[in-house]
Parts: sequence; structure tokens; C-alpha cells
Amino acid sequence: MGKAAKVFKWTGIVLASIIVLFVAAVFIFNGKTYDAPYPDIKATKDSAAIARGEYLAYGLGHCAGCHVGSVDDYMKVAAGQHIPLSGGFEFELGPMGFIRTPNITPDPETGIGKLSDQEIARALRYGVGHDGRAIFDFMPFHNLSDEDLTAIISFLRSQPPVKHEVEVRDLNFLGKAVNAFMIKPVGPEGEVAKSVKPDTTAEYGKYLVLCIANCRGCHTNRDITTGAYTGPDFAGGFEMESTLVPGTICVTPNLTPDPETGHITNWSEEQFIARFRAGATIKASEMPWDMFKTATDNDLKAIYHYLKTLKPVKNKIEKIVTTKEELENRAS
Ligand code: HEC
Ligand code: HEC
Repeated sequence: MGKAAKVFKWTGIVLASIIVLFVAAVFIFNGKTYDAPYPDIKATKDSAAIARGEYLAYGLGHCAGCHVGSVDDYMKVAAGQHIPLSGGFEFELGPMGFIRTPNITPDPETGIGKLSDQEIARALRYGVGHDGRAIFDFMPFHNLSDEDLTAIISFLRSQPPVKHEVEVRDLNFLGKAVNAFMIKPVGPEGEVAKSVKPDTTAEYGKYLVLCIANCRGCHTNRDITTGAYTGPDFAGGFEMESTLVPGTICVTPNLTPDPETGHITNWSEEQFIARFRAGATIKASEMPWDMFKTATDNDLKAIYHYLKTLKPVKNKIEKIVTTKEELENRAS
């Protein structure tokens, strides 16, 4: 064998070994489990707590926007029906496969009947699932107060069980690799409050916006594969493909009070509330307007007051609804 052929052979062996090790690592780390404390949360049968949980689950907290089975089911929620949260909604994770929402009714085999209150609370607060896996960060409820977390779990426990088996994760090799090496549990920022009392202040609005309604998660530019924030908070520009009208792309408007480019800088409090009461006006919109429209006037006032306190950021959003082709043409 010539010198070159030998080098080639060894390079081949080294490369093949790296690939084998990588594949093995993906399968090992894909099943990686994490630790996090179990929050001291216990569901109650108190009717005020259950009512609060229901208000959040079908309203600003929008659990029902994801934990139902299909777009048709979502339309029922949008029409005001409190249908069971038996899961199955499918999200396509780009080229990585699919993730479906689990059944969160109390069914003991297919739902959360088999999970303790503390396991559910840990999943929502620390992003560590009942089986120790890192949860994909779809649910930014890490800083939900103890009281609201208790209210939501109490509501879930009060519901009739529905038997519905869901295969939550359906990842291909790339999805498994991303899961193995890039998905880490996301937990709370700073200290979590025991209770946050509702009022119309910007402070309570901040809690609703950041910890419950996830306005920042959509109205800030992000890296679509990792979910990392890439733009200034609330300055909009995040492009998302519509789950309701496939092929359509929604681009979030700038919610900061910038005098030129802020979308709502000139809206009065009354206009803001009226806009929420109207529900979805764009069919393809990813914003769960029809759940948010059930929020009380006081909650909407608090949100409005908080948005007024944001730092103005100049960021002109050309078009709120567009298509893939149009975006590609604009880029070239
Ligand atoms: C944007 C969509 C979305 C919203 C909103 C949402 N969820 Fe989820 N939820 C998911 C997805 C996706 C998973 C599966 C995550 C995974 O396996 O990585 C999940 C998983 C869960 C789990 C399972 C945890 C475990 O240990 O297996 C629970 C419980 C849960 N969600 C409760 C809720 C509650 C309560 C709300 C409302 C306060 C909510 N979810 C809102 C998408 C959502
Ligand atoms: C799941 C993503 C998502 C979430 C969460 C979300 N938005 Fe939006 N929002 C959008 C998209 C997409 C649009 C553009 C389409 C539309 O107007 O419906 C939009 C539009 C808006 C508009 C402009 C409406 C108009 O008619 O001009 C306002 C105001 C707004 N959002 C405020 C909020 C506030 C406040 C919150 C939190 C309470 C919030 N959004 C949460 C995605 C989201």
C-alpha cells in the first residue's frame, strides 16, 4: 500500500469511529434525565382556586390552545367551549420530527392521573418532565406563583378523565441529536412569588405578560430551532408559520412604545381592550386571541399599563401576514 492510501485508510477508520461514537452518544444522551426540586404544591378542592385555574387554562394561560387534539378542537375552544384537555395537537419541529401535546386530563393510564401534583408542578416550573426528561420549552410558566400553579393543577384534577393515548415525541435522528445535545431544562428566573395579587398595575401586568400569557415569547425575534431570543424584547419581527392556515407566515408586530414603529403606541386603553374583545381578525393568526378575549377588563388594563413601561425600540415590521415566497423574494 502506498503512503497516500495508508493515510486514506486511517482517515476512513477514524471518521467511521467518530460517526459510530456520535450515533451511540445520541442514543445514550437522548434518554438523559435531569434533576430539579419538587415544588411544594398540593391541589385543593377549593372552588375559588379551581375557578381561577379554569380562567387561566382557557384564557390568558392558554393551555387549551395546545392541549387539545386538532385545529377543529381549537376552533371549539375559540368559540368558548371548555372541551377536555386530552392532548394530541401536533407541532412539526422543522426537519426534526414531531411533538404532540400530552393528555392532561386525570385519566390514570393515558393522562396525568398517574402523576403527582409535585411532578406536574416540577414540569411546569423547572422544565423537567415526570420521567426526568428535559421538556421542550413550549410552556413559559416557570415563574407562575405557587398560588396560580396550585389553582391550575387543582382545576386539572377537578376535570373528568378522558382516555386518549398520545405519542408525545416522534423525533427522527436529527431530532434525537438536537434533543440529546441542545435541549436543557429551562427553569424560573429569580425567586418565584408565593402569590401575586391581581390588580390593574403595570407590576401585575408584567406578571401576566411574562409568566402567563407569553406575549414576549411571540413578540420578540427568536431562533426557530433553539428558541433563543435574538432580538430586543417585545420589538416584534418573529416569523411563524400558521398552524391554522398552512403556508401563511405571521410576523409579530412591535409592541414597544416607539413613537414611529410601535404598533400600539397611539392606542388608548379603551382601544386596546376593544381590540382584545374582538378576538381573532386574521384567520391565520397564531395569537390565541379567542382565549385572550376572555380576560377581565382589569387584567387587560394591567397588561396595557405594563406595555407602556417598555423601553421603546425602533423596529419597523413591514407586513404582519405574508407567505414564504414573499419573504424569500424580499430577502433576494
Ligand atoms: C404552546 C403550546 C403549549 C401550551 C400553551 C401549554 N402546553 Fe403543556 N405541553 C406542550 C408540549 C409540546 C408538551 C410536551 C413537551 C415535551 O415532551 O417536551 C407539554 C407537556 C405538558 C405536561 C407534561 C409534563 C410531563 O411531565 O410529562 C403538562 C402537565 C402540561 N404540558 C401542562 C400544561 C398546562 C397546565 C398548561 C397551561 C398552563 C400548558 N401545558 C400549556 C405544549 C403546550
Ligand atoms: C403565539 C404567539 C403570540 C402570543 C402568545 C401573543 N401574540 Fe400578539 N400577535 C401575534 C401575531 C402572529 C400577531 C399578528 C397577527 C394578528 O394581528 O393577529 C399579533 C398581533 C398582536 C397585536 C396587534 C393586533 C392588531 O389588530 O393590530 C397586539 C396588540 C398584540 N399582538 C398584543 C399581544 C399581547 C399583549 C400578548 C400577550 C397578552 C400577545 N400579543 C401574545 C402572536 C402572538
